[in-house]
Amino acid sequence: MNVTIPAGRPVYIWGASWLGIAFLKYLTSRLGHKVEAFIDNDANLAGQKVAGLPVLTSGNFFENIPSGAFVVLASIQYAKDMAAELTAHGLLEGLDFIAAGRLRPHSYCLEVAGVCNLRCPSCACGNSPRRAGDCLMKLGDCEKALDKIVREDPLAHNISLYNWGEPFLHPELPRIIEMCNDRGFETLLSSNLNIDRNLEEVVKASPAWFKVSLSGYGPSYERTHAGGRWETLLANLKKLAALREKHSPEMQVDVGYHVYTHNCLEERDQMRELVRSLGFTFRETLAFIFPLDILAAYVSGAPLPPKAEEVSKMLLLPLSEGLKMVQAEADVPCGDMDKIIVAWDMTVQPCCTWFAPGAYAADWKYESFLSAPAAHFKKARTESGLCRSCMKMGLHHWLDLYARKDLLEERLKLFREARV
Ligand SMILES: C[S@@+](CC[C@H](N)C(=O)[O-])C[C@H]1O[C@@H](n2cnc3c(N)ncnc32)[C@H](O)[C@@H]1O
Ligand code: SF4
Ligand code: SF4
Repeated sequence: MNVTIPAGRPVYIWGASWLGIAFLKYLTSRLGHKVEAFIDNDANLAGQKVAGLPVLTSGNFFENIPSGAFVVLASIQYAKDMAAELTAHGLLEGLDFIAAGRLRPHSYCLEVAGVCNLRCPSCACGNSPRRAGDCLMKLGDCEKALDKIVREDPLAHNISLYNWGEPFLHPELPRIIEMCNDRGFETLLSSNLNIDRNLEEVVKASPAWFKVSLSGYGPSYERTHAGGRWETLLANLKKLAALREKHSPEMQVDVGYHVYTHNCLEERDQMRELVRSLGFTFRETLAFIFPLDILAAYVSGAPLPPKAEEVSKMLLLPLSEGLKMVQAEADVPCGDMDKIIVAWDMTVQPCCTWFAPGAYAADWKYESFLSAPAAHFKKARTESGLCRSCMKMGLHHWLDLYARKDLLEERLKLFREARV
């Protein structure tokens, strides 16, 4: 892993999503580089700043490539296309640009809370058997895990604090973020914000990236964020904006809008407006259903769990089409291979997008993260056969497919046309 960015070069990060944001502070604070801007073609980012930096389109960048520019590719899905475009403009891989993944061997997730206050039917916490107990990571375990990462992996620089569950359910969330800060890790947080426990303390602790996930503007939100209340969410969004202004104006807040058939027209515009008025960044993705284990079972002929079946009828990109599309491009790389997922009870999970892989990962032993080096778990995953089955079905790029902006536009167009 001896890839370095030459000192003194103006750095551009291509991809202004969580991955780019996670790398920004690493490149600036840890490695001392000057990052000039993000490059990103998402129309929602036009004229906006992300994490305090301007966002150029690739067209702007290529029109007048700044002298000495070095580009970090912060996308797994589009890295190949980005590299091809940079090469076509005379930039050389390794000398003028590099894929962000090559700057670090692992990325880590500590699932601080393994349960949720909501029951979204699209998610394992709403459509799969519920875990027993409070499922909260012990503070001492969390500390040991962070210290182990510090000892083992000098290139680690960010920690996601969520997987299957709601991080704000952990009563010590602010302390956990501070523990990460103390060790030089940036934290990434995703929340339904239907809970405001310790919100002020969390904002003060200032995670690098704070995502609020939602699916609608008004009471229809409650259809797909089951158990959530629209009024609570709205109040908490406003509260978050005020707290950010007061304590951490630099904190990047993204609102991730899950686009379904029921919320894709006026409501989507209304939420975009609200998000902008609060000073947050609006992001959107075609809503999907997961975990991958229910999809794998479905592909093999089993029915979906009833809740998932019901919500699948609200997808803009229907399940059957999505499955055909991922299968047709099953040879694309998987962006999750570098992830080490530590569940609330310290067991390492084989993958972040599978909930209960069962027979697909028959040889996987649920061992404690504290019991072996990170590389052991990566090797064990390969040996478990899960990735092979997952890639055979094309499921490894399920989330990437639904995140594609071109598909979102295409599906919205089809949906509008079908209505007139
Ligand atoms: C399982 S959630 C856990 C974190 C937190 N409870 C939340 O919802 O943000 C992890 C990620 O999955 C995304 N997600 C969940 N359901 C989704 C859906 N139906 N479509 C698109 N993204 C979804 C959320 O936006 C979130 O960033
Ligand atoms: S998507 Fe998030 S908020 Fe919804 S049930 Fe899953 S963990 Fe909870
Ligand atoms: S191939 Fe599938 S199981 Fe393996 S890391 Fe990727 S998404 Fe997870």
